[in-house]
Parts: sequence; C-alpha cells; structure tokens
Amino acid sequence: MSENPRSTVLVSGATGLMGTAVTRELLSRGHRVRAMSRSVDRARIELGSYPEGRTGLDEGRLTFVEADVTQPQTLDEAVREVDAVAQTAQFPGAPVEDPDKGLTYMNVDRNGTVNLLQAIARVYEARTAGPGITRFTQRAPHFLYLSGVTVEEGSANVWDRAKWQAEEAIRGSGLDWSIVRASPAYGPEDKSFNRLIGYSDYQPFVAIFGDGNEKLTPVYVGDVGRIFARLLEERDRVRDLTLPFGGPQVVTMNDLLRTMLEVMGRRRRLLHIPKPVGKAQALVLQFLPGRFLTPDAVEFTAQGGVADLTLLRETFPDFELTPLREGLASYLG
Ligand SMILES: NC(=O)c1ccc[n+]([C@@H]2O[C@H](COP(=O)([O-])OP(=O)(O)OC[C@H]3O[C@@H](n4cnc5c(N)ncnc54)[C@H](OP(=O)(O)O)[C@@H]3O)[C@@H](O)[C@H]2O)c1
Repeated sequence: MSENPRSTVLVSGATGLMGTAVTRELLSRGHRVRAMSRSVDRARIELGSYPEGRTGLDEGRLTFVEADVTQPQTLDEAVREVDAVAQTAQFPGAPVEDPDKGLTYMNVDRNGTVNLLQAIARVYEARTAGPGITRFTQRAPHFLYLSGVTVEEGSANVWDRAKWQAEEAIRGSGLDWSIVRASPAYGPEDKSFNRLIGYSDYQPFVAIFGDGNEKLTPVYVGDVGRIFARLLEERDRVRDLTLPFGGPQVVTMNDLLRTMLEVMGRRRRLLHIPKPVGKAQALVLQFLPGRFLTPDAVEFTAQGGVADLTLLRETFPDFELTPLREGLASYLG
C-alpha cells in the first residue's frame, strides 16, 4: 500500500536503460513523471512508445523538461515543484570516456549530481542551520540516486570514485535521500550484454575480456524500476539508506552469457580475450574516430559485482526479485 500516493518525480536520464525502467514503473503506479532529456522531442517519441508512456501522455502525467546535468542554468526549472528527483543520467558512450567532449564519470556522474543538488538548494532555499546542518525553507524533494554495486571510497576505478563522491554529496546535502547500488542490469534495451550476445548473430563465438570468472548478480531492469518506486512511496518509513541491489542469483560472466545463449537456443563458444591483450588493443583504438574502446572500458566490462541482499531482505521482506532465467526468457526466448 502506497504511503505517498501520486508523487511528481523528476527523472534525469529518463530515456536511458535504468531511467526508462524507473519512469515506466512510476507511471504504471499512477505517479507523475517529469522526464529530463537533452532532447525533449526524442524523449517524447522514445517514452511514448511504451504503453505506460502513452497512458502517461494521454493523462498528462508524463511531461518533459529539456535540461543537461552539466549545465547548471538548465536545472532550476527542472527541479521546481517536484516531490522527488531520481538521478539516473549517464554520459553517452559509457564506459568509454571522452574527456575532450566532457564525457567523463567525474563530469557527468559526479558533477551532474552535484549540479542537481545545488539547483535544489537554490530553488528550495537551503540555509545553514548550524555546523554541517542544512535546512530548506520550502519542502524539498527526496533525492534518489542510481549508484553502482562496486562503489567504495578510495576505489582504483574512476567510475566508482565518481559515484562515491556523488553519494557523499547526497548524504551531506540535508535532503532526505535513497541510494541504490545496483548490479549490472539486463533487459530488452540493455546495450552491454545484448551487444555481446548480438555478435552471435554472425559469429560462431561470443568474445569477452578476461576469463569470465568474475562473479555478479545480474538484475532484471524492471526490478530496478520497482525498487525505485518502493523507495519513493515508502520514503516516510525508509530513507537515508544506501541499498545494495542485485538479482537473486550469483553467477559468473561465463554463466550469464551461456544462459543467455541457451535461452536463445544458440550454441556458441565463449572466446576469452586476456585483459592485457584487450587493454593493449584499446591503447590504439582509443585514438581512432569513434573512440569505441579504452583500457578503462576493458577493465569496466570485466568487473562483475555482487550485491549483498541482506539489507534489501530486511527493509523490503516482500520484494520479489526476478529469477535470471525468467527475466532473460521474457525478451530473449
Ligand atoms: N546499466 C547498468 O547495468 C547499470 C548498473 C548499475 C548502475 N548503473 C548506473 O545507472 C545509471 C544509468 O545507467 P544506464 O545504463 O541507464 O545509462 P544509459 O542507458 O546510457 O542512459 C543514460 C541517460 O542519461 C542521459 N544523459 C546523458 N548525458 C546527460 C546529461 N549531460 N544531462 C542529462 N542527461 C544526460 C541520456 O538521456 P538523453 O540522451 O535523453 O539526454 C541517457 O538516456 C548510471 O549512473 C550507471 O552507472 C547502471
């Protein structure tokens, strides 16, 4: 039962894999979504292609705002008069950074989150109420953030450091907040696992970096939408929580790809490209037009990530996660 029915939520990154899942789930539960995109026309077409999006448009519950998290002047209107902000923006081409174009974890993920927090502080009139204490003159929105399962302070990886710093800014913002540290997600629109498996359309093998033995808890993207909705609706009961979130099964990358192939009814070999070989290739490829690989991106794709679900079970004991094979069969079968 919803404790906060009919909220208005700004979703940044609403056209992305995760943001679309969040948007669709919120709309299906009767909430209002203000979808942020750098192109409102494209976002209207993309989100309007889903049943929940169409209904949301017809009922006036799905609206749009053209804004960019790296452009602070675009954000004040975006965050005005909302009950919550769900930040799921991610730079195009991730995990391949392109510093010349400002497409980096630090610029979009960390600074973008800080820019959103600062816009909220301006619009809802933050003031200092003592050392390290921020209060808002107006009722300020709840802040939901999509982080990663491997995030930790002092990580060697820039993507985890950027997200840690974004998390810290949220925790220190004076807002009520919820952070979801999600495992790698799969679903019909995911561009990473589906791209890997897509090579099996015309190759007798599927190639991956590393030995494929890294463990992960792949999560169905719809489950990410559902946990965001629960955190929103139950924010009076559950807040200021950093929640590890993943699928119900721990598998290796090899297991995951083999299960995908099995569900598709395909027999293909997995070809393992040693990470040092991948990184050596990437050292050259990163300077070619299109910049489709960097050494960091090789590391990122072979990273894995297992979510400890203890806190999820304690906080939302009735929350059911989609079993891996069932989730995959819903779009690959
Ligand atoms: N995918 C996963 O498996 C996974 C797992 C754990 C955590 N996460 C985290 O979840 C977040 C979203 O990931 P995703 O896979 O959904 O990303 P995605 O599919 O690449 O989508 C990200 C969206 O961000 C928007 N965007 C890009 N640059 C922007 C900017 N400067 N200002 C505002 N919006 C911008 C884009 O929308 P427009 O083009 O419409 O502006 C895009 O649709 C990321 O932080 C990621 O690290 C993802």
